[in-house]
Amino acid sequence: MEINNVLVIGAGTMGNGIAHIFAQSGFNVTLVDVDDSRLEAGVNTIAANLDRQVKKEAITAADKDATLARISRSTDLKAALPSADLVIEAATENVTLKTEIFRTMDSLARPDVILATNTSSISITLIGGVTGRPDRVIGMHFFNPVPVMKLVEIIRGYATSDATYATVRDLSEKLGKTPVEVNDYPGFVSNRVLMPMINEAIYCVMEGVASIADIDTVMKLGMAHPMGPLTLADFIGLDVCLAIMEVLHKGLGDDKYRPCPLLRNMVAAGHLGRKSGRGFYDYTQGK
Ligand code: CAA
Repeated sequence: MEINNVLVIGAGTMGNGIAHIFAQSGFNVTLVDVDDSRLEAGVNTIAANLDRQVKKEAITAADKDATLARISRSTDLKAALPSADLVIEAATENVTLKTEIFRTMDSLARPDVILATNTSSISITLIGGVTGRPDRVIGMHFFNPVPVMKLVEIIRGYATSDATYATVRDLSEKLGKTPVEVNDYPGFVSNRVLMPMINEAIYCVMEGVASIADIDTVMKLGMAHPMGPLTLADFIGLDVCLAIMEVLHKGLGDDKYRPCPLLRNMVAAGHLGRKSGRGFYDYTQGK
């Protein structure tokens, strides 16, 4: 089946980034969220990120306008589903919410349509299992900022078919991304490797091994990471980091994945990183 119309569920950071790259690659995109204000914010972010690309002369102003013209908005998921050729769910990382969305998607999308999720840690097999088409359910895990990061981690659930995998791999290449094939185990590869590193950096803060800034400097200058692990944790969101560590701990049953108590305290205190204004660093003054 030819894919022209892509439905993206969720206009937040990941959803608007996914809508951005699909529209920029020539697909018609319908961005769905629960209210107009979220859709407005999502599309404004896409416009601002396209402006950034125009300023850098990576695209023209006409490319920007054409990209935005390919994006339509909807608050009515059920009405939008029947015309979709592919659905990518990028809603909040909550298993009850995601399974509910997948049941709805399964009941209203055409039977041959692939249902993908951008989940960073929830089992693709579990999500596929609530649908009548687990062979057409797959993980398509993008990285923030989506227009910049080259990777798509493609996660095959236990029942995902070879044909579904091949379609999503080819599609990722059309978006200019590099796909990697990963099987469905807790945290996949990206978060299985990244989150224990971030968690260990937080243990270093808790135990007073070095200052926050110095821990980041070690990893930036010593290992050539673009951001130190504590800056990156603030960027991802400390609540997201904690949720992923819980998935690793529970799913793999090994105490090497135990979340650092300082991470738990910071999340309980509402210090979630950039989005709440405070995490390891203070963002209330604009930076
Ligand atoms: N949209 C479009 N372009 C953007 C952008 C956005 N949202 N954000 C940055 N850019 C562009 C800039 O315009 C700039 O373009 P040029 O190279 O053409 O000049 C380039 O990206 C670099 O940006 P900046 O110069 O502003 O800043 P920087 O050099 O500090 O890079 C960064 C910013 C790309 C975010 C870099 O710090 C980085 O790569 N950080 C690590 C990000 C990372 O690890 N992300 C993964 C998080 S984990 C995840 O997403 C998944 C999960 O499951 C938790």
